[in-house]
Amino acid sequence: MHDFRYVNGRLFCEGVAVEALAREHGTPLYVYSHRTLTRHYQMLARALAPIEDTLICYAAKANSNLAVLGAFAGLGSGFDIVSAGELRRIMAAGGDPRKCVFAGVGKTEEEIEFALRRGIYCFNAESEPELARINRVAARLRKVAPVAVRVNPNIDAGTHHKITTGTYENKFGIAFEEIPGVYARAARLPNLRLRGLQMHIGSQLTEVRPFELAVRKAIPLILELKARHGIEFFSVGGGIGIVYQPALASGPEGWWRSAAARRIITPERYAARLVPLLQPLGLRILFEPGRFLVGNAGVLVVRVEYVKRTGTKNFVIVDGAMNDLIRPAFYDSYHEIAPLRRKSGGSIASDVVGPICESGDYFAKDRPLPRVGEGDYLALMSAGAYGSVMGSNYNTRPLAAEVMVRGRQSAVARVRQPAARIWEGERLPRWA
Ligand code: LLP
Repeated sequence: MHDFRYVNGRLFCEGVAVEALAREHGTPLYVYSHRTLTRHYQMLARALAPIEDTLICYAAKANSNLAVLGAFAGLGSGFDIVSAGELRRIMAAGGDPRKCVFAGVGKTEEEIEFALRRGIYCFNAESEPELARINRVAARLRKVAPVAVRVNPNIDAGTHHKITTGTYENKFGIAFEEIPGVYARAARLPNLRLRGLQMHIGSQLTEVRPFELAVRKAIPLILELKARHGIEFFSVGGGIGIVYQPALASGPEGWWRSAAARRIITPERYAARLVPLLQPLGLRILFEPGRFLVGNAGVLVVRVEYVKRTGTKNFVIVDGAMNDLIRPAFYDSYHEIAPLRRKSGGSIASDVVGPICESGDYFAKDRPLPRVGEGDYLALMSAGAYGSVMGSNYNTRPLAAEVMVRGRQSAVARVRQPAARIWEGERLPRWA
Protein backbone atom coordinates (compact mmCIF):
# COMPACT_ATOMS: atom_id res chain seq x y z
CA MET A 1 0.00 0.00 0.00
CA HIS A 2 1.35 3.39 -0.88
CA ASP A 3 0.46 7.00 -1.43
CA PHE A 4 0.93 7.20 -5.20
CA ARG A 5 -2.40 7.36 -6.98
CA TYR A 6 -4.12 8.87 -9.99
CA VAL A 7 -6.27 11.92 -9.40
CA ASN A 8 -8.13 13.08 -12.51
CA GLY A 9 -5.72 11.08 -14.66
CA ARG A 10 -2.54 12.53 -13.14
CA LEU A 11 -0.24 10.64 -10.80
CA PHE A 12 0.02 12.17 -7.35
CA CYS A 13 2.36 11.44 -4.49
CA GLU A 14 0.28 12.31 -1.45
CA GLY A 15 -0.94 15.85 -2.24
CA VAL A 16 1.61 16.70 -4.91
CA ALA A 17 1.38 16.11 -8.68
CA VAL A 18 4.47 14.12 -9.60
CA GLU A 19 4.72 15.86 -12.98
CA ALA A 20 5.10 19.24 -11.24
CA LEU A 21 8.11 17.80 -9.38
CA ALA A 22 9.57 16.38 -12.60
CA ARG A 23 9.28 19.80 -14.28
CA GLU A 24 10.76 21.61 -11.32
CA HIS A 25 13.65 19.29 -10.54
CA GLY A 26 14.25 17.55 -13.87
CA THR A 27 14.59 13.82 -14.47
CA PRO A 28 15.66 11.14 -13.65
CA LEU A 29 14.12 11.96 -10.28
CA TYR A 30 13.42 9.85 -7.23
CA VAL A 31 10.25 10.85 -5.37
CA TYR A 32 9.56 9.53 -1.86
CA SER A 33 6.38 9.60 0.19
CA HIS A 34 6.95 10.46 3.83
CA ARG A 35 3.47 9.23 4.72
CA THR A 36 4.05 5.80 3.16
CA LEU A 37 7.27 5.12 5.00
CA THR A 38 5.83 6.38 8.26
CA ARG A 39 2.73 4.21 7.86
CA HIS A 40 4.78 1.12 7.05
CA TYR A 41 6.93 1.63 10.13
CA GLN A 42 3.85 2.07 12.29
CA MET A 43 2.07 -0.96 10.76
CA LEU A 44 5.03 -3.13 11.62
CA ALA A 45 5.49 -1.65 15.09
CA ARG A 46 1.80 -2.18 15.83
CA ALA A 47 1.84 -5.79 14.63
CA LEU A 48 4.87 -6.56 16.81
CA ALA A 49 3.60 -4.68 19.86
CA PRO A 50 2.52 -7.82 21.74
CA ILE A 51 6.22 -8.60 22.23
CA GLU A 52 7.22 -6.71 25.34
CA ASP A 53 10.63 -5.50 24.24
CA THR A 54 11.31 -4.93 20.56
CA LEU A 55 13.62 -2.73 18.53
CA ILE A 56 13.03 -2.10 14.85
CA CYS A 57 16.40 -1.41 13.23
CA TYR A 58 15.74 0.00 9.76
CA ALA A 59 18.26 -1.54 7.32
CA ALA A 60 19.85 1.68 6.10
CA LYS A 61 21.32 -0.01 3.03
CA ALA A 62 17.86 -0.05 1.43
CA ASN A 63 17.80 3.73 1.23
CA SER A 64 20.24 5.82 3.20
CA ASN A 65 19.22 9.28 2.05
CA LEU A 66 19.40 11.63 5.05
CA ALA A 67 15.74 12.59 4.63
CA VAL A 68 14.74 8.91 4.88
CA LEU A 69 17.04 8.20 7.83
CA GLY A 70 15.82 11.36 9.54
CA ALA A 71 12.19 10.30 9.15
CA PHE A 72 12.92 6.95 10.80
CA ALA A 73 15.03 8.53 13.51
CA GLY A 74 12.04 10.75 14.26
CA LEU A 75 9.89 7.66 14.70
CA GLY A 76 12.33 6.29 17.27
CA SER A 77 13.73 3.64 14.95
CA GLY A 78 17.09 1.96 15.40
CA PHE A 79 19.27 1.12 12.41
CA ASP A 80 20.98 -1.87 10.87
CA ILE A 81 24.24 -0.67 9.32
CA VAL A 82 26.94 -2.28 7.22
CA SER A 83 29.68 0.34 7.16
CA ALA A 84 31.15 3.21 9.15
CA GLY A 85 29.83 5.45 6.39
CA GLU A 86 26.26 4.42 7.17
CA LEU A 87 26.85 5.13 10.85
CA ARG A 88 28.12 8.61 9.99
CA ARG A 89 25.04 9.25 7.87
CA ILE A 90 22.72 8.09 10.63
CA MET A 91 24.33 10.43 13.11
CA ALA A 92 24.14 13.24 10.53
CA ALA A 93 20.41 12.53 10.22
CA GLY A 94 19.85 12.64 13.99
CA GLY A 95 19.80 8.86 14.60
CA ASP A 96 21.06 7.31 17.82
CA PRO A 97 24.23 5.13 17.59
CA ARG A 98 23.06 3.31 20.74
CA LYS A 99 20.26 1.86 18.61
CA CYS A 100 22.54 0.69 15.80
CA VAL A 101 23.56 -2.85 14.99
CA PHE A 102 26.55 -3.35 12.72
CA ALA A 103 26.33 -6.26 10.24
CA GLY A 104 28.59 -7.43 7.42
CA VAL A 105 31.26 -10.03 6.73
CA GLY A 106 34.16 -7.64 6.20
CA LYS A 107 34.29 -4.99 8.94
CA THR A 108 37.68 -3.27 8.94
CA GLU A 109 39.64 -2.33 12.08
CA GLU A 110 38.91 1.34 11.45
CA GLU A 111 35.19 0.67 11.17
CA ILE A 112 35.15 -1.39 14.35
CA GLU A 113 37.02 1.32 16.22
CA PHE A 114 34.72 4.05 14.96
CA ALA A 115 31.56 2.13 15.87
CA LEU A 116 32.93 1.18 19.28
CA ARG A 117 33.83 4.79 20.10
CA ARG A 118 30.32 5.89 19.11
CA GLY A 119 28.80 3.30 21.45
CA ILE A 120 26.70 1.18 19.07
CA TYR A 121 24.25 -1.34 20.48
CA CYS A 122 25.90 -4.43 18.99
CA PHE A 123 28.26 -5.85 16.40
CA ASN A 124 26.68 -8.73 14.52
CA ALA A 125 29.82 -10.77 13.89
CA GLU A 126 30.00 -13.15 10.97
CA SER A 127 33.15 -15.17 11.72
CA GLU A 128 35.57 -16.15 14.49
CA PRO A 129 38.43 -14.07 13.05
CA GLU A 130 36.07 -11.09 13.23
CA LEU A 131 35.28 -11.81 16.90
CA ALA A 132 39.01 -11.94 17.60
CA ARG A 133 39.50 -8.65 15.80
CA ILE A 134 36.67 -6.90 17.67
CA ASN A 135 38.15 -8.19 20.94
CA ARG A 136 41.59 -6.84 19.99
CA VAL A 137 40.31 -3.39 19.00
CA ALA A 138 38.18 -3.19 22.15
CA ALA A 139 41.20 -4.14 24.32
CA ARG A 140 43.27 -1.39 22.70
CA LEU A 141 40.52 1.14 23.46
CA ARG A 142 40.00 -0.31 26.96
CA LYS A 143 36.38 -1.05 26.16
CA VAL A 144 34.08 -4.06 26.20
CA ALA A 145 32.44 -4.61 22.82
CA PRO A 146 28.83 -5.88 22.67
CA VAL A 147 28.62 -8.70 20.13
CA ALA A 148 26.14 -11.12 18.65
CA VAL A 149 26.94 -13.83 16.16
CA ARG A 150 24.99 -14.21 12.96
CA VAL A 151 23.74 -17.76 12.75
CA ASN A 152 23.28 -19.28 9.33
CA PRO A 153 20.31 -21.63 9.82
CA ASN A 154 20.69 -23.30 6.42
CA ILE A 155 17.09 -22.58 5.46
CA ASP A 156 16.25 -21.66 1.89
CA ALA A 157 14.28 -18.42 1.83
CA GLY A 158 12.86 -19.26 -1.60
CA THR A 159 13.82 -15.90 -3.05
CA HIS A 160 16.16 -14.74 -5.84
CA HIS A 161 19.56 -16.49 -5.60
CA LYS A 162 21.45 -13.20 -5.40
CA ILE A 163 19.54 -12.16 -2.26
CA THR A 164 19.34 -15.54 -0.50
CA THR A 165 21.64 -15.43 2.51
CA GLY A 166 20.68 -18.19 4.93
CA THR A 167 22.02 -21.36 3.33
CA TYR A 168 25.45 -22.96 3.51
CA GLU A 169 26.03 -21.86 -0.09
CA ASN A 170 26.16 -18.25 1.17
CA LYS A 171 29.06 -16.34 2.70
CA PHE A 172 26.96 -15.09 5.60
CA GLY A 173 27.07 -16.01 9.27
CA ILE A 174 28.35 -19.11 11.02
CA ALA A 175 26.84 -22.55 10.48
CA PHE A 176 24.09 -23.46 12.93
CA GLU A 177 25.88 -26.50 14.37
CA GLU A 178 29.04 -24.51 15.13
CA ILE A 179 27.36 -21.76 17.16
CA PRO A 180 27.58 -23.25 20.70
CA GLY A 181 31.32 -23.84 20.29
CA VAL A 182 31.86 -20.34 18.91
CA TYR A 183 30.04 -18.76 21.88
CA ALA A 184 32.02 -20.89 24.35
CA ARG A 185 35.29 -19.69 22.81
CA ALA A 186 34.10 -16.08 22.48
CA ALA A 187 33.06 -16.08 26.15
CA ARG A 188 36.76 -16.44 27.00
CA LEU A 189 37.69 -13.26 25.11
CA PRO A 190 37.86 -10.62 27.88
CA ASN A 191 36.85 -7.57 25.85
CA LEU A 192 33.67 -9.06 24.40
CA ARG A 193 30.22 -9.13 25.90
CA LEU A 194 27.93 -11.73 24.32
CA ARG A 195 24.78 -9.71 23.95
CA GLY A 196 22.61 -11.57 21.45
CA LEU A 197 22.12 -13.85 18.48
CA GLN A 198 21.31 -12.62 14.99
CA MET A 199 19.86 -14.21 11.87
CA HIS A 200 18.87 -13.02 8.38
CA ILE A 201 17.84 -15.57 5.77
CA GLY A 202 17.28 -13.39 2.73
CA SER A 203 15.45 -10.50 1.16
CA GLN A 204 12.11 -10.07 -0.63
CA LEU A 205 10.46 -13.07 1.02
CA THR A 206 6.85 -13.10 -0.07
CA GLU A 207 5.67 -15.80 2.34
CA VAL A 208 6.04 -16.19 6.11
CA ARG A 209 6.84 -19.90 6.03
CA PRO A 210 10.67 -19.69 5.67
CA PHE A 211 10.85 -17.19 8.55
CA GLU A 212 8.79 -19.51 10.68
CA LEU A 213 10.98 -22.53 9.85
CA ALA A 214 14.15 -20.59 10.62
CA VAL A 215 12.84 -19.23 13.93
CA ARG A 216 11.55 -22.64 15.00
CA LYS A 217 14.95 -24.13 14.22
CA ALA A 218 16.75 -21.39 16.16
CA ILE A 219 14.63 -21.51 19.34
CA PRO A 220 16.49 -24.31 21.18
CA LEU A 221 19.77 -22.63 20.30
CA ILE A 222 18.54 -19.24 21.54
CA LEU A 223 17.40 -20.75 24.85
CA GLU A 224 20.72 -22.53 25.28
CA LEU A 225 22.68 -19.32 24.67
CA LYS A 226 20.41 -17.42 27.04
CA ALA A 227 21.01 -19.98 29.80
CA ARG A 228 24.76 -20.28 29.25
CA HIS A 229 25.79 -16.80 28.26
CA GLY A 230 22.95 -14.54 29.36
CA ILE A 231 22.23 -13.14 25.92
CA GLU A 232 19.60 -10.42 26.00
CA PHE A 233 18.37 -10.22 22.41
CA PHE A 234 17.52 -12.22 19.34
CA SER A 235 17.39 -10.54 15.93
CA VAL A 236 15.18 -12.06 13.25
CA GLY A 237 16.85 -9.95 10.56
CA GLY A 238 14.99 -8.32 7.69
CA GLY A 239 13.53 -9.73 4.51
CA ILE A 240 9.81 -8.95 4.54
CA GLY A 241 8.91 -8.67 0.86
CA ILE A 242 6.73 -6.13 -0.90
CA VAL A 243 4.29 -6.25 -3.81
CA TYR A 244 5.92 -5.17 -7.06
CA GLN A 245 3.00 -6.35 -9.24
CA PRO A 246 0.77 -3.81 -10.97
CA ALA A 247 -1.36 -2.14 -8.37
CA LEU A 248 -2.07 1.12 -10.12
CA ALA A 249 -3.54 -0.52 -13.19
CA SER A 250 -6.36 -2.09 -11.21
CA GLY A 251 -6.71 0.82 -8.81
CA PRO A 252 -4.66 1.10 -5.65
CA GLU A 253 -6.77 -1.43 -3.78
CA GLY A 254 -7.50 -3.67 -6.76
CA TRP A 255 -4.54 -6.01 -6.42
CA TRP A 256 -5.36 -6.65 -2.80
CA ARG A 257 -8.57 -8.37 -3.87
CA SER A 258 -6.70 -10.83 -6.13
CA ALA A 259 -5.98 -14.48 -5.33
CA ALA A 260 -2.22 -13.87 -5.10
CA ALA A 261 -2.83 -11.24 -2.42
CA ARG A 262 -4.33 -13.79 -0.07
CA ARG A 263 -0.97 -15.52 0.38
CA ILE A 264 1.33 -12.53 0.36
CA ILE A 265 3.29 -11.55 3.42
CA THR A 266 1.95 -8.61 5.46
CA PRO A 267 3.08 -7.33 8.87
CA GLU A 268 -0.05 -8.85 10.38
CA ARG A 269 0.57 -12.30 8.87
CA TYR A 270 4.26 -12.12 9.74
CA ALA A 271 3.44 -11.20 13.33
CA ALA A 272 0.62 -13.72 13.65
CA ARG A 273 3.05 -16.58 12.97
CA LEU A 274 6.19 -15.23 14.63
CA VAL A 275 5.01 -13.41 17.73
CA PRO A 276 3.75 -16.61 19.45
CA LEU A 277 7.19 -18.14 18.86
CA LEU A 278 9.23 -15.10 19.91
CA GLN A 279 7.25 -13.79 22.87
CA PRO A 280 7.96 -16.74 25.22
CA LEU A 281 11.72 -16.36 24.74
CA GLY A 282 11.72 -13.53 27.27
CA LEU A 283 14.31 -11.63 25.25
CA ARG A 284 14.45 -8.33 23.45
CA ILE A 285 13.55 -9.02 19.80
CA LEU A 286 15.17 -7.05 16.99
CA PHE A 287 13.85 -6.69 13.44
CA GLU A 288 15.87 -5.32 10.53
CA PRO A 289 13.40 -4.41 7.79
CA GLY A 290 14.64 -2.42 4.83
CA ARG A 291 12.59 -2.97 1.69
CA PHE A 292 9.26 -3.31 3.50
CA LEU A 293 9.61 0.17 5.00
CA VAL A 294 10.74 2.09 1.93
CA GLY A 295 10.24 -0.03 -1.21
CA ASN A 296 6.75 1.14 -2.10
CA ALA A 297 7.42 4.61 -0.72
CA GLY A 298 9.50 5.68 -3.72
CA VAL A 299 9.31 5.96 -7.50
CA LEU A 300 11.86 6.84 -10.15
CA VAL A 301 10.51 9.34 -12.67
CA VAL A 302 12.02 9.29 -16.15
CA ARG A 303 11.26 11.20 -19.34
CA VAL A 304 10.72 9.66 -22.74
CA GLU A 305 13.40 10.88 -25.13
CA TYR A 306 12.69 8.82 -28.23
CA VAL A 307 10.40 6.08 -29.42
CA LYS A 308 12.02 3.81 -31.95
CA ARG A 309 10.45 0.91 -33.80
CA THR A 310 12.97 -1.41 -35.27
CA GLY A 311 13.12 -5.09 -36.09
CA THR A 312 10.26 -6.56 -34.12
CA LYS A 313 10.37 -4.16 -31.22
CA ASN A 314 8.94 -0.92 -29.98
CA PHE A 315 11.70 0.71 -27.92
CA VAL A 316 10.82 3.49 -25.51
CA ILE A 317 14.13 5.24 -24.79
CA VAL A 318 14.05 7.17 -21.52
CA ASP A 319 16.54 9.44 -19.75
CA GLY A 320 16.94 7.14 -16.72
CA ALA A 321 19.17 4.09 -16.93
CA MET A 322 20.66 1.11 -15.13
CA ASN A 323 23.02 3.48 -13.32
CA ASP A 324 19.95 5.04 -11.67
CA LEU A 325 18.04 1.81 -10.98
CA ILE A 326 19.99 -1.39 -11.54
CA ARG A 327 17.44 -3.90 -10.20
CA PRO A 328 15.93 -4.98 -13.57
CA ALA A 329 19.40 -5.46 -15.10
CA PHE A 330 20.84 -7.18 -12.04
CA TYR A 331 17.99 -9.31 -10.75
CA ASP A 332 15.59 -9.32 -13.71
CA SER A 333 13.28 -7.61 -11.30
CA TYR A 334 9.88 -6.23 -12.18
CA HIS A 335 8.91 -2.61 -11.61
CA GLU A 336 5.48 -1.40 -12.63
CA ILE A 337 5.68 1.44 -15.16
CA ALA A 338 3.04 4.14 -14.90
CA PRO A 339 2.72 7.21 -17.13
CA LEU A 340 2.37 10.36 -15.05
CA ARG A 341 -0.63 11.25 -17.22
CA ARG A 342 -2.96 8.34 -17.62
CA LYS A 343 -3.45 7.54 -21.29
CA SER A 344 -6.54 6.20 -22.95
CA GLY A 345 -6.46 3.98 -26.03
CA GLY A 346 -4.77 0.66 -26.57
CA SER A 347 -1.42 -0.58 -25.41
CA ILE A 348 1.63 -1.73 -27.29
CA ALA A 349 4.31 -4.21 -26.18
CA SER A 350 7.35 -2.06 -25.45
CA ASP A 351 10.92 -2.36 -24.26
CA VAL A 352 11.68 0.52 -21.92
CA VAL A 353 15.41 1.16 -22.13
CA GLY A 354 17.99 3.70 -21.01
CA PRO A 355 20.75 5.43 -22.94
CA ILE A 356 23.62 3.31 -21.54
CA CYS A 357 25.68 1.31 -24.00
CA GLU A 358 24.71 -2.15 -22.82
CA SER A 359 21.85 -4.43 -23.77
CA GLY A 360 21.31 -5.02 -20.06
CA ASP A 361 20.26 -1.40 -19.69
CA TYR A 362 16.51 -1.89 -19.63
CA PHE A 363 13.64 -1.38 -17.21
CA ALA A 364 11.12 -3.64 -18.95
CA LYS A 365 10.90 -5.96 -21.92
CA ASP A 366 7.79 -6.59 -24.03
CA ARG A 367 5.68 -4.72 -21.50
CA PRO A 368 2.20 -3.66 -22.65
CA LEU A 369 2.27 0.11 -22.29
CA PRO A 370 0.12 2.91 -23.58
CA ARG A 371 1.55 4.69 -26.60
CA VAL A 372 3.92 7.35 -25.36
CA GLY A 373 6.04 9.94 -27.12
CA GLU A 374 8.88 12.36 -26.54
CA GLY A 375 8.40 14.46 -23.43
CA ASP A 376 6.02 12.06 -21.67
CA TYR A 377 7.00 11.11 -18.16
CA LEU A 378 6.93 7.59 -16.74
CA ALA A 379 7.19 6.46 -13.13
CA LEU A 380 9.03 3.27 -12.26
CA MET A 381 7.08 2.20 -9.23
CA SER A 382 8.35 0.61 -6.01
CA ALA A 383 11.84 2.00 -6.47
CA GLY A 384 12.28 3.30 -2.92
CA ALA A 385 14.43 0.38 -1.78
CA TYR A 386 17.75 -0.57 -3.38
CA GLY A 387 17.17 2.09 -6.05
CA SER A 388 19.10 5.28 -5.54
CA VAL A 389 21.55 3.61 -3.14
CA MET A 390 22.73 1.24 -5.87
CA GLY A 391 23.22 4.10 -8.31
CA SER A 392 26.53 4.70 -10.01
CA ASN A 393 28.25 7.12 -12.34
CA TYR A 394 28.57 4.61 -15.17
CA ASN A 395 28.81 6.39 -18.52
CA THR A 396 29.65 9.56 -16.50
CA ARG A 397 26.00 9.99 -15.66
CA PRO A 398 25.30 12.14 -12.59
CA LEU A 399 23.48 10.61 -9.63
CA ALA A 400 19.78 11.43 -9.84
CA ALA A 401 18.06 14.09 -7.77
CA GLU A 402 15.75 13.01 -4.93
CA VAL A 403 12.68 14.70 -3.48
CA MET A 404 10.57 13.87 -0.46
CA VAL A 405 6.87 14.68 -0.31
CA ARG A 406 4.92 15.20 2.86
CA GLY A 407 1.27 16.11 2.41
CA ARG A 408 1.20 19.05 0.05
CA GLN A 409 4.84 19.94 0.65
CA SER A 410 7.94 18.69 -1.10
CA ALA A 411 11.60 19.10 -0.24
CA VAL A 412 14.80 18.32 -2.10
CA ALA A 413 16.39 15.29 -0.45
CA ARG A 414 19.41 15.26 -2.78
CA VAL A 415 20.39 17.75 -5.43
CA ARG A 416 21.26 16.39 -8.83
CA GLN A 417 25.00 15.71 -8.91
CA PRO A 418 26.78 18.32 -11.04
CA ALA A 419 28.70 16.56 -13.82
CA ALA A 420 32.09 18.01 -12.82
CA ARG A 421 31.70 16.45 -9.36
CA ILE A 422 31.95 13.04 -10.96
CA TRP A 423 35.64 13.38 -11.80
CA GLU A 424 36.47 15.84 -9.04
CA GLY A 425 38.74 13.37 -7.23
CA GLU A 426 40.52 12.20 -10.35
CA ARG A 427 43.97 13.50 -11.36
CA LEU A 428 45.87 13.82 -14.60
CA PRO A 429 49.26 12.29 -13.78
CA ARG A 430 52.15 14.73 -14.30
CA TRP A 431 54.93 12.33 -15.24
CA ALA A 432 58.50 13.56 -14.74
N1 LLP B 1 19.61 -7.37 7.66
C1 LLP B 1 20.66 -7.86 6.99
C2 LLP B 1 21.74 -8.48 7.72
C3 LLP B 1 20.70 -7.78 5.58
O1 LLP B 1 21.72 -8.28 4.92
C4 LLP B 1 19.63 -7.16 4.87
C5 LLP B 1 19.64 -7.04 3.42
C6 LLP B 1 18.56 -6.64 5.63
C7 LLP B 1 18.58 -6.78 7.02
C8 LLP B 1 17.40 -5.95 5.00
O2 LLP B 1 16.68 -6.81 4.16
P1 LLP B 1 15.29 -6.34 3.54
O3 LLP B 1 14.32 -6.18 4.70
O4 LLP B 1 15.49 -5.06 2.84
O5 LLP B 1 14.90 -7.43 2.64
N2 LLP B 1 19.84 -5.22 -3.46
C9 LLP B 1 18.89 -6.29 -3.30
C10 LLP B 1 18.59 -6.60 -1.85
C11 LLP B 1 19.81 -6.89 -1.02
C12 LLP B 1 19.51 -7.18 0.43
C13 LLP B 1 20.74 -7.27 1.24
N3 LLP B 1 20.55 -7.49 2.65
C14 LLP B 1 17.63 -5.97 -4.10
O6 LLP B 1 17.58 -4.92 -4.75
O7 LLP B 1 16.69 -6.75 -4.13
